[in-house]
Amino acid sequence: MSGSASNSAQGPVLVVDYGAQYAQLIARRVREAQVYSEVVPHDISVEEIKHRNPAAVVLSGGPSSVYADGAPQVDPALFSAGVPVFGICYGFQAMISALGGAVEHTGTREYGRTELEISGDGGTLHAEMPGHHPVWMSHGDSVSKAPEGFEVTASTKDTPVAAFESVERQLAGVQYHPEVVHSPHGQEVLRRFLHDIAKVRPQWTTSSIVDDTVAAIREQIGDRRAICALSGGVDSAVAAALVQRAIGDQLTCVFVDHGLLRAGERAQVERDFVAATGVRLVTIDAVDRFLGELAGVTDPEEKRKIIGREFIRVFEQAARDLQAEAGEAGEQIDFLVQGTLYPDVVESGGGSGAANIKSHHNVGGLPDDLQFELVEPLRALFKDEVRRVGLELGLPETIVHRQPFPGPGLGIRIIGEVTADRLETLRAADAIAREELTAAGLDRDIWQCPVVLLADVRSVGVQGDGRTYGHPVVLRPVSSEDAMTADWTRLPYDVLERISTRITNEVSEVNRVTLDVTSKPPGTIEWE
Ligand code: XMP
Repeated sequence: MSGSASNSAQGPVLVVDYGAQYAQLIARRVREAQVYSEVVPHDISVEEIKHRNPAAVVLSGGPSSVYADGAPQVDPALFSAGVPVFGICYGFQAMISALGGAVEHTGTREYGRTELEISGDGGTLHAEMPGHHPVWMSHGDSVSKAPEGFEVTASTKDTPVAAFESVERQLAGVQYHPEVVHSPHGQEVLRRFLHDIAKVRPQWTTSSIVDDTVAAIREQIGDRRAICALSGGVDSAVAAALVQRAIGDQLTCVFVDHGLLRAGERAQVERDFVAATGVRLVTIDAVDRFLGELAGVTDPEEKRKIIGREFIRVFEQAARDLQAEAGEAGEQIDFLVQGTLYPDVVESGGGSGAANIKSHHNVGGLPDDLQFELVEPLRALFKDEVRRVGLELGLPETIVHRQPFPGPGLGIRIIGEVTADRLETLRAADAIAREELTAAGLDRDIWQCPVVLLADVRSVGVQGDGRTYGHPVVLRPVSSEDAMTADWTRLPYDVLERISTRITNEVSEVNRVTLDVTSKPPGTIEWE
């Protein structure tokens, strides 16, 4: 399913990806201006672009020099296609060069925070902004001459042409990166291009996303039936809630309790999620089965394989049972709901169609007697949009703002064999850390904070009158935008102190609390 810009006749804004990491961020910023956007590869032809009937095109930054061999070029035909175009960084230079301006290899590089100087009245993009303000730069080549008929509206110390526009032709561009937070006026510049130059109507709102998606789900499923595996995470919860809104009791959710969950998570699904949505839920208690399979296993990859495999098996069985039940009533289950997000779709190179299934929940590889058609209501959405949709649907904050938690759960946060006792120890320590971080108001500042039990390590301690020989836990608070890179979060000492004191006092097996101060890379976020 494509939840795409069906909310109007207005096509999407296409963000052409020149290979830097910025295209997805630009697409998100465009949506923050309430305009639907999609990322497309740079080798897309002008014909294909026209075929998509875009409201506008944004050419993203990229690592190349426009004069480098094999550097992606912009077909000049784009600028007479009647489509508004905005160029950013490399896209700006490629645009200038295609329109007949001059890009020079000056030998000086501008990187990082740079002062932008507004010329004249700043044109439409920079009108009434401070005459000097900071922007984020990252380029080697510079534009020395704008093409004929364009107004130059800004410069920097090393770049005579840092912004240009022609309102009449609906073409504009900036040398800097308006999409990053280090360009404080950047979002406004992007908004002005979209609303004031390209005349795109701001229609992409949370309620329009919900309405359109619900309508699309109804159309896809009709009066047939669907199932959805709930993991307790945000994505599957919001996907299920949308499908429930669309088809009500034709959806059944399956929640597999593998025993590797954190404290309170089963109740969150069984009680809070069901109360908020009224969804039909089947819980499968598979704790003993998972622990049995994990007995004696210490290798991280082996653990992941076992957990993934057992998850599929348990889910398959549940699906078969539900199928049989539904079949008797003459109501075959045809659809499987998945919480695939837009970044997964872009990164797997898939536009429409290509199913992208995260390996740990690889319910896409189901056996022949369980062939489902996929329903992917979040396929067009970024994470922040998914959260807003969740809130709009009335899901509790505890679910919507839950921090990422790996599919294999606490199984990969116990270094050593996973046992029921160790899980209980880790669950208790983890609950304390979460409580204290929440109480300190830090939930939104950290990406996630795994607590890791070093079950194979013991150290000597002293408590009361006696020696202890207990296990250490590691706190791994990280800050991140997307989990691809991360930094360790500088938590306030008093919060660390409270966590440490409480864990060592309240969790009998743990006598030491340590802090992981490694960024990613080189460390990963999880320890296994
Ligand atoms: P790493 O440890 O690779 O983690 O830096 C990056 C992000 O992915 C999460 N993670 C997983 N999520 N299944 C998941 O659904 C997994 O097997 C898995 N392993 C890691 C991790 O929590 C972090 O957010």
